[in-house]
Amino acid sequence: MKVLVIGQGGREHALAHKISKSPLLTKLYAAPGNAGISQIAECHGVDTDQIAGLLDLAKKNSIDLTVVGPEAPLAAGIVDEFQKSGLSIFGPNQAAAMLESSKAFSKDQMTKFGIPTADYEVFSNINEAKHFMIETEMPVVVKADGLAAGKGVVICQSSQEGVAALTQMMSEGVFGAAGKKVVIEKVLEGEELSVLALTDGEKIIPLASSQDHKRAYDHDRGPNTGGMGAYSPCPFISEEKFREVVDLTIRPMVAGMAKEGTPYRGLLYAGVMMTRQGPFVLEYNCRFGDPEAQAVLPRLKSDLLPVLAEIAGGSLKTQSVEWYDKSCLAVVLASGGYPGFYHKGFKITGLESVASQENIFVFHAGTVKGPQGEFLTAGGRVLVVTALGENLKAAYERAYQAVGQIHFEGGFYRRDIGRRGMEVLR
Ligand code: AMP
Ligand code: GLY
Repeated sequence: MKVLVIGQGGREHALAHKISKSPLLTKLYAAPGNAGISQIAECHGVDTDQIAGLLDLAKKNSIDLTVVGPEAPLAAGIVDEFQKSGLSIFGPNQAAAMLESSKAFSKDQMTKFGIPTADYEVFSNINEAKHFMIETEMPVVVKADGLAAGKGVVICQSSQEGVAALTQMMSEGVFGAAGKKVVIEKVLEGEELSVLALTDGEKIIPLASSQDHKRAYDHDRGPNTGGMGAYSPCPFISEEKFREVVDLTIRPMVAGMAKEGTPYRGLLYAGVMMTRQGPFVLEYNCRFGDPEAQAVLPRLKSDLLPVLAEIAGGSLKTQSVEWYDKSCLAVVLASGGYPGFYHKGFKITGLESVASQENIFVFHAGTVKGPQGEFLTAGGRVLVVTALGENLKAAYERAYQAVGQIHFEGGFYRRDIGRRGMEVLR
């Protein structure tokens, strides 16, 4: 089977790495990929927003299955375009991807299907939104309706902060068209959990539990990012309880979407807050989490490729998947300044010594190869250093000893990925 992976982040490197181990694979392609992906796949310089170019690439190389990593091409309808040409592609179509591309749509679907989520209001008119903000009880969360690379969510402690967030999104346009409409919702408290499940629109294979770390700095301080690290499984939730969370958050959404004639096929990701009142959905994403994929996929014992191909074909035949009984921890190394402005082009050192270590995976996110074949930084999140261990503590220690050997100018990382999980175990 010839497979094309679309995307250029750490998630896509983890997907490409897992697919590269499949006995069904004959050749792996990526577009555009990154310096790490180029070590295991033939990379083509077609960007993720060039849908016609990607279609052309898939046709010319007789690709049997295309796997889409990021949300933007899914929201832009890449699946619909490939299917029109009779090509097999893994991911939801444009209508189903709206679960991520419109938070207002997503919240309305949750309400309709009885899925627990924070109370909310949707606004397209800034004066009405401001009026509500001044009247409502604080704190609240303001969310840009559209895609904002994980940065369109602001937690506001006072109505002044709330009004400022509304002004930035709705009149100053910091997130462009994505912020013209907003959701204002109640703040929830609890432990966050990422729930990932593979589905053909009817049957569901839940993946192992994981937890992301959204804030830029230690102790959950600083701005929200795309994610600074993750681990799997989550020790604060039993397997039985996790199944209940899947039943409350994934199953009703998959069933509801199918009933409405927009079946969801692909990977459905529920961002869940485990509150005292039970699990509440914060958001749905229409693709693997990044960096959750890097923490979950190394634990997967079963071959992923047939499952992706079955879902792309419209009917899941695999009943379940097997896991290594190990913990996995993924630490993001980011460019100084991320998630704000950062410089690129710094040389990365120490990769060779880490690459040879057992049970360590260095997934590349923002990297390119320099003129001498050296690795250079090329994005906000640069590398995701991942380790498998007998338990969370062992994975933590192994990951951080590897992180300590890798350097690039201005680079930083959180030192507390998995710490809260370990405290639960104590
Ligand atoms: P979202 O993109 O909706 O998942 O939001 C990004 C992050 O903002 C989440 O992972 C949470 O950390 C935080 N967040 C979103 N909604 C809420 C909420 N209602 N209460 C508390 N935190 C939230
Ligand atoms: N790690 C959060 C996300 O992928 O949206």
